[in-house]
Formats: sequence, structure tokens, C-alpha cells
Amino acid sequence: MSGPRLAVVGATGIVGRELVALLEKRRFPASSLSVFSSGRTRTGVRFRGRRLRAASADMRRLAECDLVFLASSETVARRLGPALARRGVWVIDDSSEFRLDPEVPLVIPEINAGALSPRRRLIAGPNCTMTGLAVAAWPLHRRSAVREIRIASYQAVSGAGRSALSEYFQQSERRGGFAADGRAPLPRRHPARTLPRPIAGNVFPQVGGFDAQGHTGEESKIASELRKIWGAPRLRVSATAVRVPVVRGHSLAAWLRFAGPFPAARARRLLAAAPGVKLRRTGDYPSPADCAGTWPVHVGRVRAGVDARELALWIVSDNLLKGAALNSVQIAERLLSLGWLNQT
Ligand SMILES: NC(=O)c1ccc[n+]([C@@H]2O[C@H](COP(=O)([O-])OP(=O)(O)OC[C@H]3O[C@@H](n4cnc5c(N)ncnc54)[C@H](OP(=O)(O)O)[C@@H]3O)[C@@H](O)[C@H]2O)c1
Repeated sequence: MSGPRLAVVGATGIVGRELVALLEKRRFPASSLSVFSSGRTRTGVRFRGRRLRAASADMRRLAECDLVFLASSETVARRLGPALARRGVWVIDDSSEFRLDPEVPLVIPEINAGALSPRRRLIAGPNCTMTGLAVAAWPLHRRSAVREIRIASYQAVSGAGRSALSEYFQQSERRGGFAADGRAPLPRRHPARTLPRPIAGNVFPQVGGFDAQGHTGEESKIASELRKIWGAPRLRVSATAVRVPVVRGHSLAAWLRFAGPFPAARARRLLAAAPGVKLRRTGDYPSPADCAGTWPVHVGRVRAGVDARELALWIVSDNLLKGAALNSVQIAERLLSLGWLNQT
């Protein structure tokens, strides 16, 4: 097959596996795909019917590619991203390392594909929680600027990576599965290494570390990345990010405040026509269990807030897909359609 030479670094992680699967599912015209990992494990991934063995990330081999997806840590992104971009390789990074760098476009194609430039080869994919909010509220913000947003997030365990997920499964097993009545005791000695508290049968308002003002890393990312993607530096955002015992799919309760009245009926009309958004009819609503594995950002419960200038929304999206892998593949598809990606 002709097409650009691709690589995925972190291909054995939960985002990386989705990336590889999407490249196949969406028939991305790659002439080759190389996959990389820490090199510590002997795992591989399947692509177009073949099993690819993941090798440890190797600068020489990566520099021979046209496009490299980074789905690994900030440290790996720092080591590889700028060096590859300087050699003319397109790099799409899912980590938070470069998202707020003014030289690096932070892109959600439905919103700001115009930030892409042939001169800026390192591109950042945004935070998975912020993405659902940004996509869902964008058609409303375009009609009438949002002044203020308050959100509470309900974030899946997979958002914290493979090790958090296995921690959750271990804790669930130790509880003998899920106790529907919530009375089963939490294990006293839970194997919590990645998450700050036991997550099986629990929720806690901490995603990331705390800053001096008491905000968590996730809450700050939601605010600062949204301002950058929307180009709205004065947008006021207040967030409480909560981890919940859900495998996959981030949910958000959001309240948007406008300068003037914004009727819910108008919001529903705009959302029904918005790219990347799936609006549920009144009386129905999305939940992670029915949105996991799907591509759009799902919106429901669209209604007035405390007064006519406020709208309340319920938003659910798959953190591994639109929140990470799908958004990156969509950026790559955009580079391809712009004719900026080499066709070998
Ligand atoms: N999970 C989400 O919902 C989500 C959403 C948006 C963005 N992100 C970001 O996407 C990135 C990947 O997240 P994830 O959830 O997929 O994490 P993960 O499941 O923990 O996977 C991490 C991947 O990185 C690889 N890796 C570790 N050290 C490496 C090294 N020195 N060189 C090359 N590869 C190395 C791992 O390989 P081994 O298999 O060899 O350990 C694995 O493939 C993170 O930056 C995360 O913040 C995640």
C-alpha cells in the first residue's frame, strides 16, 4: 500500500492500542507501521492481520518515518518530540508535555484545525476530559461567547492508564466483584500504587496532584487547555474533577454562562447539527456504558440553568477515543487531506 510511513510510540498502552486499531478501522493509507514501547515487555499489537512486535523506541528508526504518534509519558515526549520535528517528521503527541507551549498547536479538528501549519511539525492532542467539553460547547460558544463554565467531571479509571486499570480490577476482585448495595468493605490493604485512593466501590475528587491553591492538575488542564483551543483567554472556568469506578468513558455535568439569554431549544438545534456531536432527545441521556467504544461526544439533559443566561448540559465521551486516539488520527487525516504528509 502507498502512503506515509507511520510509527506509534507507546503502542502497547491503552491509548496506543486504540490508535493502531483506528488506523486500520479508518483505513489510514499507511505504507508501513512500526510500533514501539518501553522495551521492557515482550508484547505486540495486531495490525492488518499481522502481529507487530513492539521494540524499544529508537531515534534512528523513528526519524525514517513521516509521522510518529506519541502515546507514552511526558518524559518520552520531551525526549523524542522536538528532536523528530526538527528532522521534518510530523509528531502528534497525546501527553500533556507541549499542550500549553505557544509554539505547539493544540488541536481538536472540529474546532481549530486552522492552527495546523506546515512549519509546526510537533502537534499536541488535548486532555481527554476537556475534549468532550470543548467539542460539545463549541457550537454554542460560536453563536454567543461563553463567559463562564462550571463543571464536575466523573472520570473513568482508564484515563489514568493501564496500571490504574489493573489496580481497579485487582481491587474489584478482592471485594468479590461489585456489591450493588455498597456494603462490601473496601480492602484495607488495597494495591493502590497509581491512584491516590481505592477506586473499587468509591469516588474521590482527585485527578492529578494539588497545587498551592488546592486545584488538581486535571482541573488546571481543563481550564488552560480550553482557553487555548477556543482562543478565549478570558474564559472563566471552575472545575471539580472526580475519579469514578467506570472502566471507560468520561462524563461531565457542565453549566455554561453567557452574556445574554440562551434558550435551551436554540442550543439543541445547534448541537443537533454540530460536527462530532451526538445529541440525545429530551428525556434520554448518554452514559459511559453506552458510549464506550463510540466516536462522537454525546450530549443530553440540555436545559436552562439558574436563569435564562445559563445552560446546563450532560456530556459523555470515550476518553481513549475522542479523548486521545481518535482525535490524533483525525489530526493525521487532516494533514493528509491538506497534502502536507509525504506520500511514499
Ligand atoms: N488514558 C487516557 O484516557 C488518555 C487520554 C488522553 C491522553 N492520554 C495520554 O496518553 C499517553 C498514554 O497514556 P496511556 O493511558 O495509554 O498509558 P499506558 O496505558 O500506561 O501506556 C503507556 C505506554 O507507554 C510505553 N512506554 C513506557 N515507557 C516508555 C519508554 N521509555 N519509551 C517508549 N515507550 C514507553 C508503555 O510501554 P510498555 O508496554 O513497554 O510499558 C506503554 O505502551 C499519556 O501521556 C497520557 O497522559 C491518555
